[in-house]
Amino acid sequence: MNIAFDKISEKGFLDIEINPGLDLFAEIEQLKKEKNAILLAHYYQEPDIQDVADYIGDSLGLAQKAQQTDADIIVFAGVHFMAETAKILNPGKKVLLPDLKAGCSLADSAPAAIFKSFKEKHPDHLVISYINCTAEIKALSDIICTSSNAEKIIESVPKNQPILFAPDKNLGAYLNKKTGRNMLLWNGACMVHEIFSLEKMTKLKIRHPEAKVIAHPECEEAVLAFADYIGSTTQLLKYSETDKATQFIVATETGILHQMQQNSPFKTFIPAPPDNSCACNDCPHMKLNTLEKLYLCMKYEAPEIKMEENLRLAAQKPMVRMMEISRKAGLLG
Ligand code: 13P
Ligand code: SF4
Repeated sequence: MNIAFDKISEKGFLDIEINPGLDLFAEIEQLKKEKNAILLAHYYQEPDIQDVADYIGDSLGLAQKAQQTDADIIVFAGVHFMAETAKILNPGKKVLLPDLKAGCSLADSAPAAIFKSFKEKHPDHLVISYINCTAEIKALSDIICTSSNAEKIIESVPKNQPILFAPDKNLGAYLNKKTGRNMLLWNGACMVHEIFSLEKMTKLKIRHPEAKVIAHPECEEAVLAFADYIGSTTQLLKYSETDKATQFIVATETGILHQMQQNSPFKTFIPAPPDNSCACNDCPHMKLNTLEKLYLCMKYEAPEIKMEENLRLAAQKPMVRMMEISRKAGLLG
């Protein structure tokens, strides 16, 4: 056992051989019961993980579930900042992440020390940070938002209050347009949502004129201008279910197509093409989690998210403000 735990620091996950005959779905279900564990998964996880999860959601839904659960263990099938968020909201619970190296290019684009000096240059600005950031950035923020509630969060701030928005410049620019603000934007971006090719999307639309283009607000301005509908992952999923169109070109991470197809089996979902020939609209961080790593993480209760209490308390404050504003706006289920 000790050898395996040593390996976590190098590899980020438990590297233990698994009997190939094992039914991992059944084993994971059994471990959930034995350990009173809840398995939360983001829509960008691979289909097998989504199928075995207790709850699948976007960042806001997942944060809310993490806050409400009475399970002893939260197993987070997502990326590091999401598991960290669950820990911030749930200090008494054990929070597990199958692969500690499941990071996020957007969160990485805001190193805390550099962000802190940027913030200090704008002392009159209120800091609103997108949830896709580290606990250190959360601790430097006044309010957190997600793509589901960002507009409402910004509208809750008096119009004459200057705002610094971090870390996603694309989401920030979209929100400036929507709310008529002139927020100061940190220069970060998501490597997955920046990759879509407008040229290829236009050609695809010519071939599928009936298809509606739906996009996540982390996409670049030109892609958003081309979209028929813009929304968070959950909002895109709902739109694909309720809209009359039967074909959709989807400009976000491909993992969401699994739920879209399941919920609307007779509709066609086409992933928006990236700028090159690779599968770049698969998030390489999200896809580091596998069913095998998930099983091992539940069995051995590692890797675990740990956080220094002062940092947790500082990061919790803007999260609580986000939850309060979201509740008042009727955005929590
Ligand atoms: P949402 O879950 O808020 O739609 O954000 C998408 C994302 O990029 C998560 O990493
Ligand atoms: Fe980060 Fe983008 Fe991956 Fe989401 S899709 S985890 S924002 S890199």
